[in-house]
Amino acid sequence: MQGPLHRFFDADHRRLDAILNRACLDPERVDVVVFQEFRAGLLKHIGMEEKVLFLAASRARRDRLPLFAKLRVDHGAIASLLVPTPNPAIVAELVSILGPHNRREEEDGGIYDACDEAVGPEEAERLLEELRHFPEIRLKGHNDAPVVHEHIRVNVDLSRAQWRDDAIS
Ligand SMILES: [Fe+2]
Ligand SMILES: [Fe+2]
Repeated sequence: MQGPLHRFFDADHRRLDAILNRACLDPERVDVVVFQEFRAGLLKHIGMEEKVLFLAASRARRDRLPLFAKLRVDHGAIASLLVPTPNPAIVAELVSILGPHNRREEEDGGIYDACDEAVGPEEAERLLEELRHFPEIRLKGHNDAPVVHEHIRVNVDLSRAQWRDDAIS
């Protein structure tokens, strides 16, 4: 059975997937107004994972799971893809990282299960309260400068390389 933290973050994945689908109903163009909602929600989701979930689990375990560092690298790539004005190619690249990333978090014995197990049910309920009051993200405007796209390349390559290396070793 899934623990409370697992259920909370799973539900947020589903909610964000639905918003992104709505933003991409037209395959030729992204609805930038709906995409803002997705962007703010996803950045908040990443903040909740890094600033609440991973920290609490590391504190309870007295060590950091190696997977946390890799998920943070993915978060860096995902966040960088949210900087430029969205188009179908950018969204496709984003989904190619976000899909496997979410599966690694959600799967049986994945990171959400590990976090629920590390903190225990009582602390998980307390953390849920904290998560429900997590501040909304104040979005900056999109930036389409060349340096932004270089930044995306570096971050996306780092994310892809770490999982590819895992598959080889
Ligand atoms: Fe994540
Ligand atoms: Fe997540």
